[in-house]
Amino acid sequence: MREVYGNTAGLAPRALKALERIYRRRVPSDRIATPELVRSLAEASREAGRQVGALVHRSGQVDYVMVGTATGLMLPDIGRLRAAQGRFRALRLVHTHLFGEPLTKDDLVDLTRLRLDLVSAILLTQEGEPRSMIWAYNVPERGTNGNDGEKPYEIVGPVAYGHPQPNFGELIRSLEEEFARLARTRKVEAKDGRAILVHVDEKQKSGAMRRAQSRLHELESLAKTAGVAVVDRVIQLRDRPDPKLVLGRGKLEQVVMRAIELDAQTLIFDCDLTPAQASGIAAHTDLKVIDRSQLILDIFAQRAQTRDGKLQVELAQLKYTLPRLGARDDALSRLTGGIGGRGPGETKLEIGRRRARDRVDRLEKELKTLERQRAERRRRRTASGVPVIATVGYTNAGKSTLLNTLTDAGVLAEDRLFATLDTRARRLELPNGTPCILTDTVGFIRQMPADLFAAFRATFEEASDANLLLEMVDASDPEHDEHIRTTEELLKKLELSHIPRLRVYNKVDRLAPDQRTALSNETEAVSVCALDSVSTRVLLERMVEMLEQQTQSQRGERLPSSPVHTVRASRAPGTIWQSPLENLEGSPARSERDNSGSYRTR
Ligand code: GTP
Repeated sequence: MREVYGNTAGLAPRALKALERIYRRRVPSDRIATPELVRSLAEASREAGRQVGALVHRSGQVDYVMVGTATGLMLPDIGRLRAAQGRFRALRLVHTHLFGEPLTKDDLVDLTRLRLDLVSAILLTQEGEPRSMIWAYNVPERGTNGNDGEKPYEIVGPVAYGHPQPNFGELIRSLEEEFARLARTRKVEAKDGRAILVHVDEKQKSGAMRRAQSRLHELESLAKTAGVAVVDRVIQLRDRPDPKLVLGRGKLEQVVMRAIELDAQTLIFDCDLTPAQASGIAAHTDLKVIDRSQLILDIFAQRAQTRDGKLQVELAQLKYTLPRLGARDDALSRLTGGIGGRGPGETKLEIGRRRARDRVDRLEKELKTLERQRAERRRRRTASGVPVIATVGYTNAGKSTLLNTLTDAGVLAEDRLFATLDTRARRLELPNGTPCILTDTVGFIRQMPADLFAAFRATFEEASDANLLLEMVDASDPEHDEHIRTTEELLKKLELSHIPRLRVYNKVDRLAPDQRTALSNETEAVSVCALDSVSTRVLLERMVEMLEQQTQSQRGERLPSSPVHTVRASRAPGTIWQSPLENLEGSPARSERDNSGSYRTR
């Protein structure tokens, strides 16, 4: 006796017998279903008064028989292991529909989500006789620019019962070939995978949609930095995020279908998932599930260059993963290891809690040693008396670019977030001949994962000795006010807010003239285009000025009453940066001191 799955409660023995008999049917590889199988399914359906289905293997055997309700059918758990790339599950579903209804959403979700070979419904007459058949199979995207709204499946029928069926074996073979060919070309196209971004927020919050767009924009930059191609973005505004799945169940199903449609392997959530949520979502899909913290950790893992940086990131990854290692879930390997399982790597992450903790201890010890060595280097540097100026600010603000322009240092500057992961120090001679050390720091980001913050804190040790902080702001970013707030908060947390600071509005070349004028009225800040060395002259002069004021104050000379970190500029409002093009068209740009002691760039 083989097990009949599903809603067998209350069935008469005759119905159960009819269901069991379905297991005896065999279906040749070129047919969707034989008349015998169709008749058996219809008969069992009549007896049970419920939908009846069979999962038929490509070998011709019936692997599972299920019974549902009058309008639906639950499939047994056929394992969630992802079929090989470009392959289907080698199972097709053939089942009855009692009221002549077409394929339902659930049928199509099962088809795409479980990567079944095919789903077919036998539409019964009122008397329970087979009248017609309808079927659907997965199809690959056809256009070069994604599916452009096309469905990931094709529906055929209803076709009158007895009408010739297509050659099933050939159909599946050619579809699999097509999927496999696409998968191969995609590997070249996006070696680190394709992802869908998901943002969920409370709908009552004012400006929720605008915020969602901007957050997804940032998440997309993070994903790009991690080398992931973003194929779609999904926003759901709800009363509150679902405690188990974050998204609503129906929406999650839609997202999973969309992922299959676009051949995405990863879902990236713009919030931090609890271990329970991560495994709840993973139970619904074969896709890899990543949250924002993991994505950031992954980027850090890819980019850390020094021994110190690498160890800190590995430590942060392990700490993030530890609570998840506890979960008894075979989906675990899909929840850890970040994109493509970088960093500690999936195997290492599966070594179990105890060994992970040992590794955490070892890493912490090793980091302590490195910290002592760093402290020694800093001590020597401080003893040399050369002033240190550190650039700080939100990621992508242009810190590395400024450092390059000022020192020709050749530090990696890219339009990717977190291009900098270790502080770099370069020597620079200021316009008054004073030598100084200019250091670059890792960019800030809102909601920095806590463990990462610890790692990130260490990279700021060098900045804590700085005589001056240059707070870089990407003035062209519509979110720059929020970036300023995040920077402010993080500087406080890093205990750096007492250090004198000069705000530098960058990327002003991207601003409209009236926006530039508005910035130039902020007398305590300077505006630059870090790509253009001419525009940095005012900045250099201000750096000299602020350092001189500090030296004076150290010598006990009287200073203006304002606190050190808001040393007032002597620059008059109205100093406007001009674009290199304007400079080229007019007289050559140069910085000069005007009579009132302010600086103007012409
Ligand atoms: P993190 O390392 O992520 O913290 O970034 P960062 O602040 O060091 O930024 P980075 O210097 O890498 O610059 C980010 C991007 O902005 C690069 O593509 C730069 O070429 C670009 N960029 C920097 N400054 C300017 C500017 O003044 N104008 C324009 N248009 N682009 C700029």
